[in-house]
Amino acid sequence: MAAAPSQAPTPAPVRMATFRQDLDLSVEQLNAVLDLTKEVKQSRTRFSAALKGKYAALLFEKPSLRTRMTFELAMKQLGGDVVTQMGLIGDREPLKDVARNLGRWTDVIVARTFTQQTVDELAHWSGLPVVNALTDMYHPCQALADMVTLREKFGRLRGLKLAYVGDGNNVAHSLMLCCARLGMNMSVATPLGYAPKTSVIAQAIEFSRISGARIEVMTDPVDAVQNAQAIYTDVWTSMGQESEAEERKKLFAPYQVNELLLSLARPDTLFMHCLPAKRGQEVTDAVMESPQSVAFDQAENRLHVQKAILLMLLQ
Ligand code: CP
Ligand code: NVA
Repeated sequence: MAAAPSQAPTPAPVRMATFRQDLDLSVEQLNAVLDLTKEVKQSRTRFSAALKGKYAALLFEKPSLRTRMTFELAMKQLGGDVVTQMGLIGDREPLKDVARNLGRWTDVIVARTFTQQTVDELAHWSGLPVVNALTDMYHPCQALADMVTLREKFGRLRGLKLAYVGDGNNVAHSLMLCCARLGMNMSVATPLGYAPKTSVIAQAIEFSRISGARIEVMTDPVDAVQNAQAIYTDVWTSMGQESEAEERKKLFAPYQVNELLLSLARPDTLFMHCLPAKRGQEVTDAVMESPQSVAFDQAENRLHVQKAILLMLLQ
């Protein structure tokens, strides 16, 4: 008679095909990224040769500190390497030609673009996995790093409340889709006319029916932060909207995250920001520098979560 196995078999690793936007990940894959991030963060050496011989093409149409550096570090710490190009994609030659060149040389494209369509077309024409490194519509790597940070701080995600105050932009969209699928409550307060896109609100509400999350969109920042475990904000003027900056400064002034707003949530409420932060606009220096601020933990976790994403795409 065969002996009973002494250990349960190791489950097959969860893989992902591409990451053009948040919803390219199933809820199972989303949880797998968070779990793998924990392992990756615990041991730099364990995965140090995992992507040996693999190359990422980093394409950036917009400036970046965190995303560009952490993808470069992530590939190098996993044994791979990167090539980088700054500037508009499809300016010098058609996008479909750029994509087909990269498809012949590299293993993955990491792209920060203006339109979501550019990321989708890169994926279509290159035949490679493509990672969204921020588009006007989404910032999915950021939202994953934020989920990792919250899980580290609270030991769980389900049932927490995140209040997002400011512009209903790419970062807000990705956070809403993450929270709604992971059972986290989220309230979003924006000035009238700056709410998240109705299509994203509708998707988030649909997901929340399955997960049990509560997703609310409103205009009053004080209402939004009630009983929130974390308050999140982002710049009032995203990259590409610079001509609207002065008008936005006036409209968004009541949405500044300052010590008063922070004190209206809970005594231990965390402050979150994807960075770069404009002190004196969406957040005060005092809040950024307060012990409640976890902005640099979020920035650190960009590196770890992106290593997990690359492993799930390329291993
Ligand atoms: N948060 C973030 O994506 O930062 P960068 O614009 O510097 O990459
Ligand atoms: N919403 C900001 C995020 C920067 C990381 C932008 O798109 O510029």
